[in-house]
Amino acid sequence: MQEKILSIENLSVRFSLRGRILHAIRQVSLDVYKGETLVIVGESGCGKSVLNKNLIGLLDSNGFIDNGSIKYYGAKPDAKNPDLYGEDEKGTYADLAKFKKEKDWLKIRGQEICMILQDPMTSLNPLKTIGAQIAEAISLHQGKKGKEAKEAALQIMRDVRIDDPERRYKQYPHEFSGGMRQRVVIAIAIACNPKILICDEPTTALDVTIQAQVLSLIRELKEKYKLTVIFITHDLGVVANIADRVAVMYAGDIIEIGMVEEIFYQPKHPYTWALLSSLPQLGVKGEDLFSIKGTPPNLFAEVKGDAFAPRNPQALKIDFEELPPYFTVSPTHKARTWLLDERAPKVEPPEVIRSLNSEGGAANGK
Ligand SMILES: Nc1ncnc2c1ncn2[C@@H]1O[C@H](COP(=O)(O)OP(=O)(O)OP(=O)(O)O)[C@@H](O)[C@H]1O
Ligand SMILES: [Mg+2]
Repeated sequence: MQEKILSIENLSVRFSLRGRILHAIRQVSLDVYKGETLVIVGESGCGKSVLNKNLIGLLDSNGFIDNGSIKYYGAKPDAKNPDLYGEDEKGTYADLAKFKKEKDWLKIRGQEICMILQDPMTSLNPLKTIGAQIAEAISLHQGKKGKEAKEAALQIMRDVRIDDPERRYKQYPHEFSGGMRQRVVIAIAIACNPKILICDEPTTALDVTIQAQVLSLIRELKEKYKLTVIFITHDLGVVANIADRVAVMYAGDIIEIGMVEEIFYQPKHPYTWALLSSLPQLGVKGEDLFSIKGTPPNLFAEVKGDAFAPRNPQALKIDFEELPPYFTVSPTHKARTWLLDERAPKVEPPEVIRSLNSEGGAANGK
């Protein structure tokens, strides 16, 4: 079994909004293994960003964790803060769900876990040169100063394939294109020397060719710097290019998780079927692209049963009544759907999913 670097257990996150409470993360458990690329996929609003913001202490101020733990196994224990650290059979961990003070987060955020956001402009300082911003991260996290920090910054610029780094070192963010800016943000993240890199929709603002370049860059850097990558996207199309494992989120929960091949070739949850059916690659020429009817549930109210049931034309009666447990499909694959219960009637995945299975289709991009 691979080594766990992160273990989220029964995490529940709520937001208080104008006197009402929204349940954004509903008892999520998720393990992340050292050195893997885990892709989290799901529609807008399903909780991908909120889940991951908890890992770096950047939850919006109206949000709070009301249950669960987030064990991070990579950190050195801090003797002054015994409440935040613990030990179990896997080793010493920091329980990030208990972190509150900014001072404590600074030992994790940047240092151990870095997050790259969709819009690079929001993470860059428009008034400082690119070089200065990368060198600053290097001095802060690697202790290198002056010429040594500059040399290291230039090396990272080469690693993220910024051409003519000596000249570009002195330029400002506005002198870079969108794709190049995203490379700078990645360079700054790498300069911090993190163990986990979270990429939150880092390619959605970019055109397709640049998207592909950024994906292949992330793959390369992951090998070179021995990173664990959590990659967030609403686009299953990019998943095949980068994922080892895929977690499918719906309405604040992970409804299916498995190796990338398992999710593409043996998907079990009707929501995963629907997501796969809406892949443009699977569209039939001349016909409208499949889109999932209806909207996700209102998270201000408690969700009953399988959250996807109201949008699932083949939902069973029990789907509306009781939350399905996870059923094990393989040692690496589980899904939360009553269809996997031995008493369930046989419901076949849509035709297009079955053809994906027989052709070997979309996951060939890897
Ligand atoms: N500060 C906040 N206050 C209230 N609700 C919030 C807040 N931040 C997020 N939410 C809600 O939490 C849920 C999850 O949001 P989240 O941003 O994680 O979605 P997402 O999966 O990242 O979507 P997208 O693909 O659009 O980025 C949504 O219902 C959202 O409206
Ligand atoms: Mg998001």
